[in-house]
Amino acid sequence: MSDVRQRWGTKIGVVLAVAGSAVGLGNFLRFPVQAAKNGGGAFMIPYLIIFVLVGIPLVWAEWTAGRFGGGHGHSTSPGIFQALWRKNRFIKYLGIGGIFGPFLIYMYYVYIESWCLAYAYYSITGQLSVISGSQGFVDFLTNFQGAATTGTFAGTVPSIIFFLITFLLNMTVTYFGIRGGIEKLCNIAMPLLLLFGIVLAVRVITLFAPDPLHPDWSSINGLGFLWNPDFSALKSAKVWMAAAGQIFFTLSVGIGVILTYSSYLRRKDDVALSGLAAGSTNEFAEVILGGSIVIPAAFIFFGPGDIVEIANSGAFDLGFVTMPQIFTQIPLGAIFSFLWFFMLFLAGITSSVSIVQPSVAFLEDEYNLTRQKSVRIFAIFAFVLCFPAVLFLHRGVLDDLDFWGGNFIIVISATIEVILLAWIFGINKAWDELHTGARIRVPRIFRFIIKFITPTILLLILGYYLATDWWDVIAMKEIDSANIPYILGMRIVLLGVLVLLAVLILIAWRRRGKREYQKG
Ligand code: PHE
Repeated sequence: MSDVRQRWGTKIGVVLAVAGSAVGLGNFLRFPVQAAKNGGGAFMIPYLIIFVLVGIPLVWAEWTAGRFGGGHGHSTSPGIFQALWRKNRFIKYLGIGGIFGPFLIYMYYVYIESWCLAYAYYSITGQLSVISGSQGFVDFLTNFQGAATTGTFAGTVPSIIFFLITFLLNMTVTYFGIRGGIEKLCNIAMPLLLLFGIVLAVRVITLFAPDPLHPDWSSINGLGFLWNPDFSALKSAKVWMAAAGQIFFTLSVGIGVILTYSSYLRRKDDVALSGLAAGSTNEFAEVILGGSIVIPAAFIFFGPGDIVEIANSGAFDLGFVTMPQIFTQIPLGAIFSFLWFFMLFLAGITSSVSIVQPSVAFLEDEYNLTRQKSVRIFAIFAFVLCFPAVLFLHRGVLDDLDFWGGNFIIVISATIEVILLAWIFGINKAWDELHTGARIRVPRIFRFIIKFITPTILLLILGYYLATDWWDVIAMKEIDSANIPYILGMRIVLLGVLVLLAVLILIAWRRRGKREYQKG
C-alpha cells in the first residue's frame, strides 16, 4: 500500500464531490420519469418519508463507516466491512457489491452520459433545432443510438466517438486522483451545474401556456402536478418501491461509493454535517431544480395526460425527446438546449468518476498498485465491458444492467451495510464515530431510526422485491425471446466479473495474512 493515503484538499471539496456523485442523470432524467409514472403528487409523499427514514440514515452510516475504514487503510467495502467486524473472516465477501455494483452502473452510465455531451454539441451545431415533431426527435435519438443503417448516424459511429471522448475524460479525471482530479472537477462542475439548473428552472417557470385551447396548462399547474399531495397512493406498494428505488439511486447510497469517498477523510474531519449537506444538495437539485424543469415544461406543452404517456413510453423520452422539442419552440431555444444537455453532462461526469473510484481504490489499497496503474487496468477492463451496452442497447442490455446495478445490488448492499454498522459494530460505537469531529449533533431520534427503522424498512423492501418483481426480471419473463441470448450472454460475463472479484479479494487477504505473519 502506498504509505501516504490520498486525502481531500478542503472541507467543501469533499461535500461537493459527494454531492457531485449524488447529483446525476438520476436527478434530471430518472426522477421526473418516476414521478410522472407514479402519479406526481402521489409519489412525493413516500419519496420524502423514505428520504428521512432510510436515505439520510444510510448517508450518515456510509460516511461514518467509510471514514472508519479509511483509518484502517481500506477504501472499499470488503476491507471496510472487515474492519467493522474483525472476527468474521467471511464478511469481506459480502462487501463485494461495493465494487461490483458501481462497476455495473459504470458499464451503462457513461454511455448515457455521452449522449448528453453529443446532444449539447448538436444543440450548438443546430442539428437539433431543425427537427420537428415528437417522432422526429424519437427517430433522431434511436438513429443516434445505432438503429440507423444509412444516413448520418449509420453504424453508430458518432455515438461511439462521443462515448470514447466521455470515457477518456472520466479516466483522465481519476488518473489525477482524489484531490488533483475529482475534487478539482467537482469544484468547478458543481457550481456551474447548479447555476445552469437555476437558469433553466427560472426559464421554465416563466413560460406561458402556448396552447390557447388549454390555458390551464400553466407552469403553476405543472408544479401542482408534483406538489399537490395525493394521499390515496400511500396504499400502493408499487409507488413506495419506486420512491425507495429513486432515493437509493439518487443519493448514491448503499453501493459503496460514499464509503470510498469518505475513506479519504481524516479521523477528525466532520461527517455528520458534511453528509447532511451533500444529501441536501442532492435533494435541492432533484426536487427543486429537477422538479421545476422537465415536469412543468412538459406539462405546459403537452398537458397532464401526455406527460404520463411520454414517461411510460421510454426512460429517456422526457429528457431527449420532449425537452429538445420544447426548446425548438421557445426564443433562444438553442442556447437553452445547450444549457440543458451540458448540465446533464456535468451532472453525469461528476457521478461517473465516483463509480470508477471503488475499483481503482481496491487495486491501490489491496494490491499496492499505484493510482496510475490502477486506473490503466480499470480503463482496459471497463472499456471492453462497456461495449455490450453501446452495441446492444436495443436488445435490452442497458435495462438489464440497470436492474442489477441500479436496483438489486443497491438494496442488498444497503441492507447488509446498515445491519453491520448498527448491530454488529454496534449503534453505541457507531453513534460515537458519527459524532467524532462532528460540527452538528444529530437528533437522538436517529439513533433509534438507524438501529430499528432503517433496517426494518430495508428488509421489507428486500422481501417485497423478492416476493414480487425480482423473479420475473431474473427469469427474463418479460424479455423478447430474440433478445434473450444477448441478456444471457451479458449475465454470464457479469458472473465472471463477480467470481473474479471474489478471487481477487481472497488473494489480497492471503497476501496480507502472509505479510503480517512475516512481520511477526
Ligand atoms: N446518484 C447518481 C445519479 O443520480 C447515480 C449513482 C448511483 C452514482 C450510484 C453513484 C452510485 O445519477
